[in-house]
Amino acid sequence: MMTAETARKIDAIRRERGNDLAILAHHYQTDDVVAHADILGDSLELSRKIAALSAKDIVFCGVYFMAETAAMLAAPGQRIHIPAPDAACVMSEMAPAALVEAVLTRLRQAGRDVLPLTYVNSSAAVKAVVGACGGAVCTSANAPKMLKWAMDQGRGVLFLPDKMLGQNTCNTLGVAASARHILDVRSGGARLDLDAARQAEVLFWPGQCVIHARFKAADIAALRAENPDVRVVIHPECSPATVAAADAAGSTSFIIKYVAEAPAGADIVIGTEINLVNRLAKQYQGQKTIRPLALSACSNMAKGTEANLLATLQNLDAAEPVRVDEAVRAPAALAVTRMLEASA
Ligand code: 13P
Ligand code: SF4
Repeated sequence: MMTAETARKIDAIRRERGNDLAILAHHYQTDDVVAHADILGDSLELSRKIAALSAKDIVFCGVYFMAETAAMLAAPGQRIHIPAPDAACVMSEMAPAALVEAVLTRLRQAGRDVLPLTYVNSSAAVKAVVGACGGAVCTSANAPKMLKWAMDQGRGVLFLPDKMLGQNTCNTLGVAASARHILDVRSGGARLDLDAARQAEVLFWPGQCVIHARFKAADIAALRAENPDVRVVIHPECSPATVAAADAAGSTSFIIKYVAEAPAGADIVIGTEINLVNRLAKQYQGQKTIRPLALSACSNMAKGTEANLLATLQNLDAAEPVRVDEAVRAPAALAVTRMLEASA
């Protein structure tokens, strides 16, 4: 089917459904999907918007954990749909809930009752484990605020699943390297170094984003050798060495703001998912030079297409919406609500 025809059909359904339908999209979605979004945002902005939406049907264009978070925050009677239910975040899958629970239990038995703080890029089941332990969720936009909140509880913190965001956030807050420890969670937690875990103030789950791991400090050094005036802005899922070599690091919304505020004529290199970089390059064509640090695409984000957005809209009334089991939803929503309150 031609894109123009798909777009026309989507427009017709949106007109017909009016305020009963809201389409949300993450910044990493492709332009043809983003063109249909009522709300475009980073993970934090999108989570915050859910509670205020009155639409009966909310279509979430992004990866599964985002739609699942929306389903946790939706009002009774609201239905959340995702055009690509198989769009998993690879990083979130690095922390299976049963393993997180086993590791927390083993730490507790060893006298280390840490407060878990999970990046929003995690399953509802992990958020439920975290919520039940008194912990909270964070996003890349509020990680420093939330890590400080967690450290202030005085129990020590387990940051999961992204060891890169965790370490970058510790650098922002000035947490000493000697107060940090990356857990070895292999063999169901049997390989944990319990002495190191007892001594460290912040423990990290050993997960990371393979897309952001591709951005290297050496590539930034090479760019600077070519043009000392180049500005490099990256996402904090990149390694601490890459963040140290960049001019700035922040969430997808932070990156958009950084580009908007750069002076005309600026040469800006961006280290994040390619759809966002390409969109900014088009938007500022002729005013600022926007280039990717590397061609890094999230194949799961790419599963959300204009064609499956249309298919979702055509099937809204018959489709099974995203559901989170009530036993999981209540403690998981508590962890998200703690974030929304602490980072308001
Ligand atoms: P943001 O919260 O910055 O939008 O990032 C989400 C994400 O998945 C980055 O890889
Ligand atoms: Fe997950 Fe990385 Fe894709 Fe973001 S870019 S959704 S962290 S796999």
